[in-house]
Amino acid sequence: MNPVEGHFGDQFIEAFDELLRWRRDVRHFKTDPIDDDVVEGILRSAELSPSVGNSQPWRWVDVRSPEPRAVVKETFMRCNADALNGYRGERAQKYLSLKLAGLDQAPVHIAVFCEDGTAQGHGLGRQTMPETLAYSVVTAIGSLWLAARARGVGVGWISIVEPDDVCAALDVPDGWRFVAYLCLGYPVQVESTPELERAGWQARTDPRARYFVR
Ligand SMILES: Cc1cc2nc3c(=O)[nH]c(=O)nc-3n(C[C@H](O)[C@H](O)[C@H](O)COP(=O)(O)O)c2cc1C
Repeated sequence: MNPVEGHFGDQFIEAFDELLRWRRDVRHFKTDPIDDDVVEGILRSAELSPSVGNSQPWRWVDVRSPEPRAVVKETFMRCNADALNGYRGERAQKYLSLKLAGLDQAPVHIAVFCEDGTAQGHGLGRQTMPETLAYSVVTAIGSLWLAARARGVGVGWISIVEPDDVCAALDVPDGWRFVAYLCLGYPVQVESTPELERAGWQARTDPRARYFVR
């Protein structure tokens, strides 16, 4: 492997593809703690992600106190009940059976925000497409997901929450946009197939259906 020559070698590529294959959205966690230096290492890796204008607009909030955790649980329960109302019949039964958050067991909770007003990057790129700031945060979350999995840590992304409730519970500065609430912990089971596929909700589909040539 010689990154300086621009190639990491076949073995690395194979291992990297395995990591991509085995990265999962995890909702079933062991309650064992994660060492602080492991969490720190995961965040340091995520910090290497690309961002528009090198703005690094991601802000990580390590949610440790029970009070904001309780608010997140409440907003999740409420939003999940609302979401269930949008389904009927068998789909509703199926939705009800899904576990869509591991909030109670995950030892580490990280709320991720985008600082929309950041001066870093001097506006490059985002003047024409302001949404690229939030896209940058999502690239960092993708890296975090992989960095965690490489260390044996599972990540679950929770989006079934009211952003205003999360912002208020965590008392974040005005201008921070909520992007994701992440649960981190060691998975109860390691899987190569998405949980929603195993539960019969949605399988992966043919990649060729998403590939176009013009
Ligand atoms: C933007 C985004 C939001 C998501 N929100 C939730 C969520 O609220 N609850 C949940 O259980 N999974 C959530 N997921 C995880 C997806 O359900 C999961 O990625 C998908 O089913 C594929 O499974 P895999 O990640 O294991 O490959 C989210 C994923 C993304 C990218």
